[in-house]
Amino acid sequence: MDFKEHITVVEDYPKPGIRFKDITTLMQEGKVYKQAINEMAEFARKQNADVIVGPEARGFVVGCPIAYELEKGFVPVRKKGKLPRETIDADYGLEYGSDSLSIHKDAIKPGQRVIITDDLLATGGTVKATVKLVEELGGIVAGLAFMIELTYLEGRSGLDQYELFSLVDF
Ligand code: PRP
Repeated sequence: MDFKEHITVVEDYPKPGIRFKDITTLMQEGKVYKQAINEMAEFARKQNADVIVGPEARGFVVGCPIAYELEKGFVPVRKKGKLPRETIDADYGLEYGSDSLSIHKDAIKPGQRVIITDDLLATGGTVKATVKLVEELGGIVAGLAFMIELTYLEGRSGLDQYELFSLVDF
């Protein structure tokens, strides 16, 4: 299936010069959304995933249905201050300044095989912070799965040791 034709490129959003990749048009089409999730879930299955991790908010949109399909747990990674129990945190760079992502301390058991999912790999800052959180808890990062990879931003550099799957490249 050509997933790319269902992703809308929005010019100059959120600011001039940015070509935003909008997955909501893909998600609006049930069969296309399902097929995209199935292909990502197949990757996760092959990597023998025990648990699926996704950073907010769009990481939930892909991670939850993959977890449901595989009958595995889903673990949310959230912006700092959003999770109610004890967390560990990791900083990540933004264009201006930095932010922090959190995971519940008891969410991953040491040795569990983890697939990290998100809608988009851009600079890689989000996924690298998420990898750090998972590994700090003793999880094994068994793969990284994205709907979209912006190859020109080279987000995958520094991630060579991980299996990386993306449905669509721009
Ligand atoms: C977007 C996207 C990824 C991340 C990718 O999320 O959903 O999580 O950016 O960019 P990176 O590879 O440069 O880190 P955003 O931070 O906008 O959060 P949202 O999903 O809550 O809108």
